[in-house]
Amino acid sequence: STYNEPHRPQIHFSPEAHWMNDPNGMVFFNNQYHLFYQYYPDSTVWGPMHWGHATSKDLIHWQNLPIALYPDSLGYIFSGSAVVDINNTSGFGKNGKAPLVAIFTHHDPKGEKSGSNTFQNQSLAYSLDEGITWKKYDSNPVLKNPGIKDFRDPKVSWFEPDKKWIMTLATLNDITFYSSKDLKDWTKESEFGQKLGAHGGVWECPDLFPLTYNGQKIWVLIVNINPGGPNGGSATQYFTGNFDGHTFTPNQTNTKWLDYGPDEYAGITWSNTGSRKIFLGWMSNWQYANVVPTEKWRSATTVPRELGIEKVGQQFLVTSKPVSELSTLAAAPVAIKNIKARKFDVTAKAGKMEGPFRLELSADKLESYSITFSNKLDENVVVGFDKAANEYYIDRTRSGKVDFEKGFAKRHTAPRFSSRQSEKMTLIVDNASIELFADNGRSTMTAIFFPHEVYSNIQIKSTSNLNIKSLVLTKLKRIWK
Ligand code: FRU
Repeated sequence: STYNEPHRPQIHFSPEAHWMNDPNGMVFFNNQYHLFYQYYPDSTVWGPMHWGHATSKDLIHWQNLPIALYPDSLGYIFSGSAVVDINNTSGFGKNGKAPLVAIFTHHDPKGEKSGSNTFQNQSLAYSLDEGITWKKYDSNPVLKNPGIKDFRDPKVSWFEPDKKWIMTLATLNDITFYSSKDLKDWTKESEFGQKLGAHGGVWECPDLFPLTYNGQKIWVLIVNINPGGPNGGSATQYFTGNFDGHTFTPNQTNTKWLDYGPDEYAGITWSNTGSRKIFLGWMSNWQYANVVPTEKWRSATTVPRELGIEKVGQQFLVTSKPVSELSTLAAAPVAIKNIKARKFDVTAKAGKMEGPFRLELSADKLESYSITFSNKLDENVVVGFDKAANEYYIDRTRSGKVDFEKGFAKRHTAPRFSSRQSEKMTLIVDNASIELFADNGRSTMTAIFFPHEVYSNIQIKSTSNLNIKSLVLTKLKRIWK
């Protein structure tokens, strides 16, 4: 049957076959979450980009739908966003029906080859039937390239105070904001970022939205970057500050990352979900995405994550947690209380974990510890906290198939931010991935791996006498029929 191949994610979205990268056009509309994605239907490596399409009622179970957007004479369909144009500002609506409007980058491969600098332009398409069929606007592109080689990934949102649309666009190594009353005619507002943040690569796939901290509106600007991530390759950084409809003013001087692991990229949030902000990333890294050892398809998304904001010292930190809807997959949990040990064989106590599961650990005292997930071939992934370094880590050095890329077999780290002396960690484990959410979602990491056999054994170790208050293991039912 389908979705049963080796390494196939069981609780994460992946296309049934062929290549996928960035999530695109995520929008909530008429009780459905739409997910479009960078898709190449003819191969398992990157190629001429289309927008694939799937929908979900609960962010967890997905229905695959026909391809939404095909390449055309203006080029490939690169990343972008979608909005519900409730007031029909675009005029694409008909008979009182609000259109779904997609704003995406047309990437002209011929222009790129010829050495021109204007081969990426922003275009529109609209749908009047819930995103099933799309019509491209006949005056595309709507935002022409002024001569910036990397000019892409428009994320559009409604700015209510000025009754206008704001486009956040990645422009080489900064962000340019544009505004429009009708989604067709765009005016440049400002640029941001030349002097702030990480600049080890090209800026891509931005997002801009407010979160609320103690009644105060804090604007978050997400900027994906490739390469130049904290653990190598592609990663998601963000800025916090204020946005007044024209300019983004940061309230930070340091660089911040939404996910420190190697395998969350191109992550942005759903449109039209009110004050709830739900983030989804592509679970891979451009360093090796094209060569990972899967046969029928390549890549999956992360679990959808609910974003929050907290203040630690003088810093605003964006927190990530798996959406609560994930619990609809939960089977009977096994709870173990008050473990005091240097070494604890979880499997001996709770049985083998085959297939996806959630692990929740809490401890009253902050100590170093490690959790080893392994199979009988002794391949493993080790997740833990190092108290001296004050960092979390995921070590996939001996995780199984690693030789498809020489930088893959590595230990990756993430700082811990709070001074809180207790510990809470949640891990979401699927056949080919681990997502770590620790310290109330302030430290987040995602890593993929490819064992010859799924890991089903769990061992906890500590150099001191770790005192685990509770350990809860919950099997998660697979999402595919
Ligand atoms: C990010 C990205 C985008 C681009 C798309 C092309 O992963 O490089 O900048 O629009 O992928 O597939």
